[in-house]
Amino acid sequence: MEETEKAERKKVILSGIQPTGVFTLGNYIGAVKNWGKMQDEYHCAYFIADLHSLTIRQDPAALRRQSLDAFALLLACGIDPEKSLVFIQSHVPTHSELSWVLSCYTQFGELSRMTQFKDKSARHADNVNAGLFTYPALMAADILLYQADMVPVGDDQRQHLEFTRDIATRFNNLYGSTFKLPEAYIPKAGARVMSLQEPTKKMSKSDENQNAFITILDEPNVIINKFKRAVTDSEKEVRFSEGKDGINNLMTIYSVFTGKTMEQIEAEFEGKGYGDFKLAVGEVVVEEPREVRENFKRYIADKAYLEQVYRAGAEKAAAISARTMTKVKKKVGLLASL
Ligand code: TRP
Repeated sequence: MEETEKAERKKVILSGIQPTGVFTLGNYIGAVKNWGKMQDEYHCAYFIADLHSLTIRQDPAALRRQSLDAFALLLACGIDPEKSLVFIQSHVPTHSELSWVLSCYTQFGELSRMTQFKDKSARHADNVNAGLFTYPALMAADILLYQADMVPVGDDQRQHLEFTRDIATRFNNLYGSTFKLPEAYIPKAGARVMSLQEPTKKMSKSDENQNAFITILDEPNVIINKFKRAVTDSEKEVRFSEGKDGINNLMTIYSVFTGKTMEQIEAEFEGKGYGDFKLAVGEVVVEEPREVRENFKRYIADKAYLEQVYRAGAEKAAAISARTMTKVKKKVGLLASL
């Protein structure tokens, strides 16, 4: 953004999602559904973070298919390309370019402290590659290129956002104001949807137990059955309290879909068993995934349309991000070619 536009400009929101598997109910209510709601109020940019997925070995054909699926799914969840900038990260070369420059302003020690790096390198001990290590520099590039004000992310990405602010501050101190300092935007309701089988763990699409998560493309009967099998506790009361992780999680989900408070939910299910409650949760959840699934089927059947949308997105993203990239190159002393 130009200096003079700053005062009245709409805030810029940016977020990315990796194309590894269909979004879970957790991704949907904790992230993508809210992304849709912000489109009128802000300048929004949402992208498929396919480059980040390369840090773990992928099957090439599957990654291509999943990237297109994830893109179609963003649209199916209500991200409107007329309102928001939507694109695929690898289509916009400035991301890799800025990532390299930022990695030269990043210390080994600070990347070593990233908890996600520690977790992932323990889980993939046979492939602790340099990309896994410099992952946060790429994420910082994604954000800083667009001068984002706010970045909706889950709790697990909070540290990467702190890192982004640190790098931006360091760069600005060295070269003068270049990057906007982004804030994390952690949604209140439904920010953390937990596993239906081990409710102390976050719901994850990479869980081996299929009953632990619901995807946004699950059929209604599958959704109902997964809720019926959800782990609760040995009491009988639908009550929100410490130690009742399973019930707390189900109440949170029910609350997000009905708008009811915990007190109202407790009153509604007073004297009723967990069986009735679990069924009720399933029934309020099924409707939105049904719509998303129908939209998804429509989009994924129309490859030409998807192509047209992601090409236009890439072009626009390239133009916007080039403004920041040009400034950065000049500041660090790279000789201009144009
Ligand atoms: N690392 C994020 C995740 O795995 C995805 C991501 C990549 C992202 N770049 C981003 C999120 C920039 C927000 C902003 O969830």
